[in-house]
Amino acid sequence: MVLFLLKIIFLAVTTLSNIVSRIIFTTAASFICLLIQGLKVPGEAAKGGLEQVADLIKSCAEYLAEFAFEVVSSVVSAVFDVVKEGLLGSVSATGSAIGGLMEQTRNSIDGLVKELVSEVLGGFSEMVSTIVADLWNNYKDAVGYHVEVTAPAPKKDEVLIKVEAASLNPVDWKLQKGMLRPILPSKFPFIPVSDVAGEVVEVGFGVKKFKPGDKVVAYLSLFSGGGLAEFAVAKENLTVPRPPEVSAAEAAGLPIAGLTAHQALTQSAGVKLDGSGPRKNLLITAASGGVGHYAVQLAKLGNTHVTATCGARNLDFVKGLGADEVLDYKTPDGAALKSPSGQKYDAVIHCATGTPFSAFKPNLSPTGKVIDLTPSFGSFMTFAVKKLTRSKKQLVPLFGVPKGENLDYLVQLVKEGKLKTVIDSKHPLSEAEEAWAKSIDGHAIGKIIVEP
Ligand SMILES: NC(=O)c1ccc[n+]([C@@H]2O[C@H](COP(=O)([O-])OP(=O)(O)OC[C@H]3O[C@@H](n4cnc5c(N)ncnc54)[C@H](OP(=O)(O)O)[C@@H]3O)[C@@H](O)[C@H]2O)c1
Repeated sequence: MVLFLLKIIFLAVTTLSNIVSRIIFTTAASFICLLIQGLKVPGEAAKGGLEQVADLIKSCAEYLAEFAFEVVSSVVSAVFDVVKEGLLGSVSATGSAIGGLMEQTRNSIDGLVKELVSEVLGGFSEMVSTIVADLWNNYKDAVGYHVEVTAPAPKKDEVLIKVEAASLNPVDWKLQKGMLRPILPSKFPFIPVSDVAGEVVEVGFGVKKFKPGDKVVAYLSLFSGGGLAEFAVAKENLTVPRPPEVSAAEAAGLPIAGLTAHQALTQSAGVKLDGSGPRKNLLITAASGGVGHYAVQLAKLGNTHVTATCGARNLDFVKGLGADEVLDYKTPDGAALKSPSGQKYDAVIHCATGTPFSAFKPNLSPTGKVIDLTPSFGSFMTFAVKKLTRSKKQLVPLFGVPKGENLDYLVQLVKEGKLKTVIDSKHPLSEAEEAWAKSIDGHAIGKIIVEP
């Protein structure tokens, strides 16, 4: 019975020490991963900083491990001493046998802890070095580096496109900067960009709509990317035919920006683009940008009054797109988002960033809603509060859900001359860094195009 109790106690102590060390190391490892993820900054300067942080973390981990080992050892010794004393005092007949057993067990637990600590520590240091090296190499490849890779092969329901034009969107550089982690990028190495137009050169098993030689435009998933290349693979259901009247550059502008403008207007704001439906007062912010310039043109196909915001240099440009009134966002009236003719907005297609809901509120109709294309944590909080309080004025975070039929509709509008892609600039693939920097700069008028 005594031996049985002793075994239980020893087992409990051993298990506890294992759990404690596991918790300490798992927590430390997760913390390190988060910290290094947080430091994923592109640029040569990041390398030294990242390595120093990794060294610092490694030495802290070693110190923590030693400390944990000391603590565990002391606890084990103390427990053994107490148990040994108590037992030897009361059970004289089995005293020497128990004493021997306890010494043996204490030594083996000490050995186990030592082995565990050194093994975990070894693996841990290696893990840190690998993470640092991987992160650095991945980001190095992603920042302004051109690499030769083999052309992808189309799988089932996919087409291989020889890219003639690709367009950039803010999400591309946000993804590169790690702003969408831990969801995106989902893998490395990652070739960015989702909007492409070109010619089908190969089709995968099961593809019915396309054959080699067809001119197309496609939305590549943000998870796969691949557009900033000579060849890209696209899903058949997100690829649509491109008529000869629509150039590759014009078509390449459409997938993310055009589809987002279309979704915000038709689904979120309830505008009918055939002109039917009740009249709606709209505010479109950042109307000179990729999404905004499509949004103004599409909105004017419906029964709408459009107030738009942009910088002073783009006032005429945005008026030319069809906006009924235009505000310079750097003037007091522009910053207040007030319609010059006193309109109250039924919906705001908010393409700019950093405007609190309180700035829109006085300008909204009683059931007006702000459709936020770049939702932040604050937007989600406002969304939740408005829902919970059943407020009639709403903030709606928008997430693009691309649909092939809508892309086809937009291509037809371009073909019919009812929608145009305004091209800010064209850049050869070999100078894609310039296009990238321009997108990050945030002052494009319309779409930035890259051509292989
Ligand atoms: N939720 C989604 O699915 C989704 C899809 C696409 C885009 N987005 C987001 O929507 C936003 C807009 O995208 P985009 O492609 O249109 O960007 P963009 O093309 O880079 O926008 C640049 C334009 O915005 C104008 N601008 C910047 N701040 C402004 C302000 N406060 N008021 C008025 N105009 C302003 C700039 O004019 P100046 O040069 O005069 O400053 C420039 O012409 C981005 O944050 C993007 O990430 C979200």
